[in-house]
Amino acid sequence: MKRTQVVIIGAGPAGLLLGQLLHREGIDAIILEQRSAEYVLGRIRAGVLEQGTVEVLERAGVATRLHAEGLIHRGVEIGFRGHRHRIALQALAGKTVTVYGQTEITRDLMEARDGSGAVTVHEAEDVQLQDWDGPRPRVAFRHWGQAREIACDFIVGCDGYHGISRRSVPPERRRVFEREYPFGWLGVLADVPPPWEELIYANSERGFALASMRSPTRVRCYLQCNLDERVEDWSDARFWDEFRRRIGEEIAERVVTAPSIEKSIAPLRSFVIEPLRFGRLFLAGDAAHIVPPTGAKGLNLAVSDVFYLHEALRDFYRERSERALDAYSAKCLSRVWKAERFSWWMTRQLHRFPGDAFDQRMQESELEYLFVSRAAQTSMAENYVGLPLDS
Ligand code: APR
Ligand code: PHB
Repeated sequence: MKRTQVVIIGAGPAGLLLGQLLHREGIDAIILEQRSAEYVLGRIRAGVLEQGTVEVLERAGVATRLHAEGLIHRGVEIGFRGHRHRIALQALAGKTVTVYGQTEITRDLMEARDGSGAVTVHEAEDVQLQDWDGPRPRVAFRHWGQAREIACDFIVGCDGYHGISRRSVPPERRRVFEREYPFGWLGVLADVPPPWEELIYANSERGFALASMRSPTRVRCYLQCNLDERVEDWSDARFWDEFRRRIGEEIAERVVTAPSIEKSIAPLRSFVIEPLRFGRLFLAGDAAHIVPPTGAKGLNLAVSDVFYLHEALRDFYRERSERALDAYSAKCLSRVWKAERFSWWMTRQLHRFPGDAFDQRMQESELEYLFVSRAAQTSMAENYVGLPLDS
């Protein structure tokens, strides 16, 4: 049977980054991924990085292209009732964010891993976690029709919301907190220069819209949509027409329509599992928690999880100390719940919710307060740019 120190399930950004951080500490890890590398790179996800996230990517040695191509943003805007209100992130919270696509981070991490000679098994089928509660965990899987098994010291589940790791734990040992929202996001990627300098989060009577970007020549835009809608029903023309109606007149006039390179619908969900450790199994990233994308926190949380976990594993192998491993779950969850609260708040303030007229007035009033209160803007800015990693 093959042996390694850590088996990581899932080669998304969480699994790949953990592999890279461990590699730099001299710790061996094998990554098992059910999809092909091309499939993983085909997924378009969010793209706002906190400064702490950038620092971790620097430490992992994968920030060269990020520094060359990432766009520094010093503020974001909120569109409401025909006006745009700027939240001055840097002036209020002392930090900026970097816009750089998650797909590009994944590509940079894959290249670094290939260069390091570390093993990633793509198209690993029927992955099964065994004996994770004792001192000698194993992971079984099938690869190209053959049954394989790896013995290890630790298993880390970085296999996303639909992964197998979390589900390997008996229900009575885990607690789940979940909220589904009654709408989704329809996203479009298009090669056209963005006619906006900063991200615009627009609350309109027709529903939420987000104007984002990936580069000086590529936009990423989203519309709130119903959960029963299908991508096929949204031609490019219909998307841009609706986007113009929601984003506010001034920008609408400058929007240049371009054919979409990618178009997809994603549901919005808040989700947390507790704890994040079960014996020698650890959960990190989307496998452990989901935030609605409105707060741009998903990737940043995945990065802070694996940063703490790599430190804890380093202490274990260097000093045989389990203190940081024991503290992992509580340390991450404290950060996770703050991001859950903020993402829920952003989602609540910016979307159209079905139903209650009183709730609607509360939302409007909360936004009006935000636009006049420096304290409220500071709170939003601090949450948006993220907490320091050592807090
Ligand atoms: N066996 C092996 N691999 C699996 C399995 C399984 N049973 N189930 C899922 N996977 C793989 C998926 O194919 C995927 O490549 O695990 C990976 C999980 O990657 P992501 O879903 O990208 O999750 P994560 O790495 O935690 O990324 C952080 O935070 O909100 C987000 O947008 C952000 O996607 C980003 C995420
Ligand atoms: C994106 O660019 O994809 C993006 C930006 C900000 C968000 C969500 C997604 O809050």
